[in-house]
Amino acid sequence: MSNNIESVLKEDRVFAPAEAFSSAAHVKSMEEYEELHRQSIEDPETWWASQADALHWQQRWEQTLDWSEAPFAKWFVGGKLNACENCLDRHVREGRGDQVAIHFVGEPGDTRDVTYNELLGRTCAFANALKDQGIKAGDRVLIYLPMIPEAAIAMLACARIGAVHSVIFGGFSANSIKDRLEDSKATAVITADGGWRRGSIVPLKANVDEALEGENTIEKVIVLERCSNEVTMTEGRDIWWHDATEHMTDECPAEAFDAEHPLFILYTSGSTGKPKGILHTTGGYLTGTGSTFKYIFDHQQDDVYWCTADVGWITGHSYIVYGPMVNGATQVMYEGAPNFPDWNRFWEIVETYKVSIFYTAPTAIRAFIKAGDEHVEKHDLSSLRLLGSVGEPINPEAWMWYYEKIGGSRCPIVDTWWQTETGAIMISPLPGATPLKPGTATRPFLGIDAAILDETGQECGPNEGGKLVVRQPWPSMLRTIYGDDQRYKDTYWNEYEGIYLAGDGARTDDDGFFWIVGRLDDVLNVSGHRLGTAEVESALVSHDAVAESAVVGKPHDIKGQAVVAFVTLKEGIDGTPDLNKELRNHVGAEIGAIAKPDEIRFTPALPKTRSGKIMRRLLKEIVATGKVSGDVTTLEDKKIVDALIASGENGNG
Ligand code: PRX
Repeated sequence: MSNNIESVLKEDRVFAPAEAFSSAAHVKSMEEYEELHRQSIEDPETWWASQADALHWQQRWEQTLDWSEAPFAKWFVGGKLNACENCLDRHVREGRGDQVAIHFVGEPGDTRDVTYNELLGRTCAFANALKDQGIKAGDRVLIYLPMIPEAAIAMLACARIGAVHSVIFGGFSANSIKDRLEDSKATAVITADGGWRRGSIVPLKANVDEALEGENTIEKVIVLERCSNEVTMTEGRDIWWHDATEHMTDECPAEAFDAEHPLFILYTSGSTGKPKGILHTTGGYLTGTGSTFKYIFDHQQDDVYWCTADVGWITGHSYIVYGPMVNGATQVMYEGAPNFPDWNRFWEIVETYKVSIFYTAPTAIRAFIKAGDEHVEKHDLSSLRLLGSVGEPINPEAWMWYYEKIGGSRCPIVDTWWQTETGAIMISPLPGATPLKPGTATRPFLGIDAAILDETGQECGPNEGGKLVVRQPWPSMLRTIYGDDQRYKDTYWNEYEGIYLAGDGARTDDDGFFWIVGRLDDVLNVSGHRLGTAEVESALVSHDAVAESAVVGKPHDIKGQAVVAFVTLKEGIDGTPDLNKELRNHVGAEIGAIAKPDEIRFTPALPKTRSGKIMRRLLKEIVATGKVSGDVTTLEDKKIVDALIASGENGNG
């Protein structure tokens, strides 16, 4: 194993938490963390029950964990609660109704402050509208909205009535909506006329219309007016959000749902062409997101928190909607791009709202580094007290820049490792306790039994590369892949008996800190977003001109990985620059702009083993180094190597 997964990073810098930060933090020292972690691993149920107790249960659970049908977990068996009530009503009841829940900043510059009172009233009215449109508990509802407060309202309204939301990132195409609709068999879509992105309107409603052409299960489409762009409304199916809510009261009882009632499905890429519908349920998910938000962001009542993710990703679900709102946080929500109208945007927002906790992705940090320090230096960022990173390993240079330029060398950085599947952060510093080293997510969260195993299932020693696993169930774990229990078992539980396989390679260092190396499967991480190579490949071969394709990642300064596609064309078709462009756009239309290959290289054939398997290792090496140094003895046709290398040099990419 150790020769397969190697980490060459050597990082010696250590940043101990400042005394002033530690003394006020929820966990104050490494000794305290070690002791809590030891106890929580010896007896996870007691630890997690103590965290679930922070929620409002309409009926308390009888059994903390039922793992008798592993890997299908049941947490808080017999307990009943309402996710929306936990996010909203509770704070209003406790007298925090006038507190701002969301400071909203639209891309064109419009701003609104939404209090917990208002958020509750509007969510209830919208929940009533959903019921009025015939949507009931258990129904699946697709949400395809911009980053605006109504996205949170729509999610929480679904949760309130027990409907299962499935949010689709606004950058995905009509085809991606269609795939998710077919898999989830949703009956309603909540969308907007459009959303703002870099000054243009993303035609959300038109994309939905295209996805709904032909037979499908959708009965209702609710359309929010955001950009006032022209849209077509289909009689009987489509209704404006404002019309649907017009006569609705802002009171809607928060019905009690079983702890294991499905809360949402979120689709993510895997190693096949079909995205997986990750299913999360209510009680465990709220326990995981609520407790991690409190401890890892060290949330205090007067904080102003800002997570720059989109609600279309798991980070937006867990750390814009559920985690912060369970804790009654005040947060900033921003609709648009980090560099619109220019690179000052983020820092202006931090300054205006006196943001104290800031959570973003390494790809954004690298883009800011490239844009130049002057945009940062113009702004007063002294309100910041904690920074976070998520989505991919943060390279030490980016970490140092983030620490010094954004955090003024005073803010701890929590590098948080987790996944759509884990629901909540799994490995991360506790900012008042953990000494930080640039590039490592450090130690597992309380109650999380993470380890690194070799091929035989033995735990790896320090500095030995292996597979990252979690040895005990945790409350916010996915419950299954929607509609495909077998794929759930095969993907996560087949490698080691009863142990969750994350799909990442990692090592621990001499201090037991976890260093994530990257994915072990054919999944790319592009700008912190997961992208299956098989998805891009199947989009490419769906084009008439394409015979075959193989997609690999290439190291990229800002995105982390860029998408490179090797494409063989059908007989008689020429690989012209026009076709190259057409294929890129085709992938954009099939999946979404994030999946557009950065490079397409036409090649007469793909490198295959005698058994017909594409040798990706070879392609990865070619895109990264321009040559092949490894073993090619298993290659069926060795002449192809020169053509593949030339495909990058002859400028057809
Ligand atoms: O490879 C790991 C990487 O992102 C994957 C999960 O992707 P996704 O489900 O889209 O969720 C991203 C946001 C939680 C992981 O398997 N990853 C995520 N965070 C980190 C990371 N790799 C290293 N360090 C991180 N902090």
